[in-house]
Amino acid sequence: MIKNADRIYYGGDYNPDQWDEATIDEDMRLFKKAGVNLVTLPVFSWAKLEPEEGVYDFAWLDRLMDKFLENDIKVCLATPTTAQPAWLSRKYPEVLPVDKQGRKRTHGMRVFFCVNSEKYRERAAAIAEKMAKRYRDYPNLVLWHVANEYGTYCYCPTCEAKFRVWLKKRYGTIENLNERWHTCFWGRTVYDFEEIMLPTELNDDYRFNPAVNLDYMRFMTDSTIECFENEAAVLRKYTPDVTIQTNISGHIEKLDQFKMTASPYMDIVAWDNYPAPGADPAFVAYKHDLMRGLKGGESFMMQEQSPNQQNWQPYSKLKRPGEVRMISYQAMAHGSDTCLYFQLRQSIAGEEMYHGALISHAGHEHTRTFRECAQIGQELQRIGDAFIGGQTPAQSAIIFDWDNWWILEFASKRCLPNDDINYLKKVSKFYKALFDRNIPVDMISVDGEFDRYKVIYAPFLYMMKPGLGEKLTAFVEAGGTLVTTTLAGLVDENNRAVFGEYPGALRELLGIWVEESDALKKEERNSIVMRQALLGETVYSCMYQCDIIHPRGAQVLADYGQDFYAGTPCFTVNEYGKGKAYYIGTEPDAPFLGAFTEKLCEELDIRAPYPAEKGVELTRRINGKNEIVFALNHGREEASVDLGTDVFTDLITDRQLTGSVSIAPNDVMVLKKR
Ligand code: GLA
Ligand code: ZN
Repeated sequence: MIKNADRIYYGGDYNPDQWDEATIDEDMRLFKKAGVNLVTLPVFSWAKLEPEEGVYDFAWLDRLMDKFLENDIKVCLATPTTAQPAWLSRKYPEVLPVDKQGRKRTHGMRVFFCVNSEKYRERAAAIAEKMAKRYRDYPNLVLWHVANEYGTYCYCPTCEAKFRVWLKKRYGTIENLNERWHTCFWGRTVYDFEEIMLPTELNDDYRFNPAVNLDYMRFMTDSTIECFENEAAVLRKYTPDVTIQTNISGHIEKLDQFKMTASPYMDIVAWDNYPAPGADPAFVAYKHDLMRGLKGGESFMMQEQSPNQQNWQPYSKLKRPGEVRMISYQAMAHGSDTCLYFQLRQSIAGEEMYHGALISHAGHEHTRTFRECAQIGQELQRIGDAFIGGQTPAQSAIIFDWDNWWILEFASKRCLPNDDINYLKKVSKFYKALFDRNIPVDMISVDGEFDRYKVIYAPFLYMMKPGLGEKLTAFVEAGGTLVTTTLAGLVDENNRAVFGEYPGALRELLGIWVEESDALKKEERNSIVMRQALLGETVYSCMYQCDIIHPRGAQVLADYGQDFYAGTPCFTVNEYGKGKAYYIGTEPDAPFLGAFTEKLCEELDIRAPYPAEKGVELTRRINGKNEIVFALNHGREEASVDLGTDVFTDLITDRQLTGSVSIAPNDVMVLKKR
């Protein structure tokens, strides 16, 4: 939670170093009109704040900070360290990264520094300290935003040297490393840590070695955490009461965000929400829930989204009328305590000159974007702090794991039987089945608290980390329901296959033996033939991979319809202790997942907050004061929600509501329970 927040923060990135005084004054007027109560700055202003090493110019920022104070606008102060000044790259070339091709890169791009460079860290901490000391008593400082969207991988000699140290710490001895990396394959044995290289494209052996790639990605996460903490520790020292975060890029795959946000300096999860035009609302909700899950369900910050088009999409589609309002409330419905944009004023040049902004090049408030955003701002003023810190209780959880993602998709491409894996998307299919039924879901890590849930979905959980098999078994034994799929349990944390029958640690729990797996091409399908109809259907389609399964105590629920393994089991359930463990030996289609999920929810008495017509998304947030229900009609038709005998006040319209209420297409209700 944001410390001491007494309202939902509304506003976003502001880059005043691009504007003259008169424009800035006009912006204050426009901000007020739009209900902006927080600005994030100066994200990219290192060059202006420190024009020469050790020579600082804060006068312009001081003047601005005064203006925000006069206008009662809070400040999220960014350390400008994502874009190092040219003098820094020139004077200390070690700060520049080396890319995967082994090329030393030149100055110019933002987020383009080596996270392990001592010089970078020294200069970044120095400017962070200057800022913290200068603004520690500034009354409107409510947040620190460290750098911007970390995620640059570097392959420079510094990183290589540090990687060796990191490996030594992880594995202790070279013998242990050789064993864990299974270097006896293709004669890759190393005799000394000094012989270990980074997995660049100059080195085919390493670049295709899953174990090395995986450890490199882990190392990059740890290095980035250190780089973040290098600044955050300084900020904490001078401003212990100010909430610290760094905004997570929508490209979340590069860094293990469970680890990143577990840093004691990361007070809140903040992330940048840029759904592609026309994105399925379920996919947007899924990412929000994943972000909320990073800190075990605590509220988060939606730190950026575009009020209109995103220039970097292949086609800069305009947001349709009402769309920005819908995605704003959706973020809050899923746990965000903020609604912030990139950007408040549109740049007049540069790569993002046509990116959407609250204030466009026209420079005034008479635009559709401004009107739509001002409406949200005014509504949020009325809502105040009603749901701040609110949690979203769930009885269903989906396991998501970055190491598993990396090994499936980036580190081990050439190993898997099937190249067509997009872990984020494949897991989202399980999420969507629940989303479509308004069943609240928590996205959890393998280290999460399993006992809180009635059912845990663990799709494509290829990597069985130490103790995980036992943990899942204990969960089921105590009465939990587990749903897992093909690929589950095949390798350990170093990508070594389980020795013995598949699926290793889960074999007994699932009551099966998977003998082999057939890879299906993208366009190929097999079918799931139910032994007993599932919600009226007996045949569903499946794709990606088909496991050939021998039941060892499990009950067979469905068989394959085609190929030489037609008539053999593809879907099983095993009663274990007080619970059940389901195994889907393939990737099922959406109708199967919908039907199966529905049946499971019925069996386990897991319900949506209220019954609603198709297209209406419902979530619930509860804090110490209020129970709030969000109702969002994503459909094109008016639709209804049945509130039963409960009585609510719609905080946006002040209407009192009960029983069956109807919600206009594209409209939103924020209902406070009486
Ligand atoms: C990212 C960055 C912003 C801006 C936006 C544009 O999220 O953090 O600085 O470039 O993308 O969509
Ligand atoms: Zn480096």
